[in-house]
Amino acid sequence: MTGRGTQPDESSASAAAARAARELKAAGIERARAEADLLVCEAAGRPPEWLLVHPEAPLSPQQVSRLDEMVGRRARREPLPYVLGRVEFYSLDFLTGPAAIVPRPETEILADAALARAERARFAVDVGTGCGALAVVLARERPGLTVLGVDISREALHLAKRNIARHGLEGRVQLAAGDLLGPVGRKADLVVANLPYIRTGEFPSLAPEVREWEPRIALDGGDDGLALIRRLAEQLGRHLSAGGIAALEVGAGQAGEVANLLRRAGLTEVEVIADYAKIDRVVIGRHRG
Ligand SMILES: C[S@@+](CC[C@H](N)C(=O)[O-])C[C@H]1O[C@@H](n2cnc3c(N)ncnc32)[C@H](O)[C@@H]1O
Repeated sequence: MTGRGTQPDESSASAAAARAARELKAAGIERARAEADLLVCEAAGRPPEWLLVHPEAPLSPQQVSRLDEMVGRRARREPLPYVLGRVEFYSLDFLTGPAAIVPRPETEILADAALARAERARFAVDVGTGCGALAVVLARERPGLTVLGVDISREALHLAKRNIARHGLEGRVQLAAGDLLGPVGRKADLVVANLPYIRTGEFPSLAPEVREWEPRIALDGGDDGLALIRRLAEQLGRHLSAGGIAALEVGAGQAGEVANLLRRAGLTEVEVIADYAKIDRVVIGRHRG
């Protein structure tokens, strides 16, 4: 027990959180205290607000060793969602891990933009599906839609399969291994893609969480970041149905060039949508057919 004139109990959850926060801070983690609190709750098998209500609760030796293991991983700059094994995207819970990048909040803008323009779509393709988050969101939000998630990484597809099952969507979300739209055998009413778009030269300046832990194949878009998006744009005319929509996520400064790629591919009504930070993030076009 803590109290006036007494020492804080070293085995209490709050003392463990303070120790964890010091270790994370020393490792250069910005939100060290908030992350430490979260990891303590995770180690205790409790919801995130538990520590606030029960700071004096003792942690068992098993919980302390689980906490130490997680703090050690995070201090080596493994992304927090990998340490926790899950992440929230579009208010849904997804399994995550080193097989695929952690879905980002910006990608929710891609989901919203695609959903808003694909009211009547029956068949969608999520190119570079990663952990399957976008494919799952599209299928959940549009019950009439069948989605095919394509990825070149079999490890990512394995994770996507688990996420599809977690959301009970095995009947409407299928997966295929392969390059871009190569494995897709019929025309799509909607193609969404958050393909790698980081310029190769930018890698040294990325945060260690991204540079050292997330799969390079999920991030590296070549010299100008557009190697994959350019190839995808060339395939769209053949793979979109008449009136079909393509919605692509892009990096800062790439939207103008990608809008031109879509126009050159014969798409019209090309629009650019900015993210929360006012960076042009999504480029959308419609195939006249
Ligand atoms: C930026 S991640 C996006 C993952 C997920 N869609 C998301 O938004 O969180 C890009 C994904 O594209 C996949 N990828 C890379 N090259 C590919 C290719 N040539 N064909 C299909 N998928 C590819 C990677 O394996 C990775 O899962």
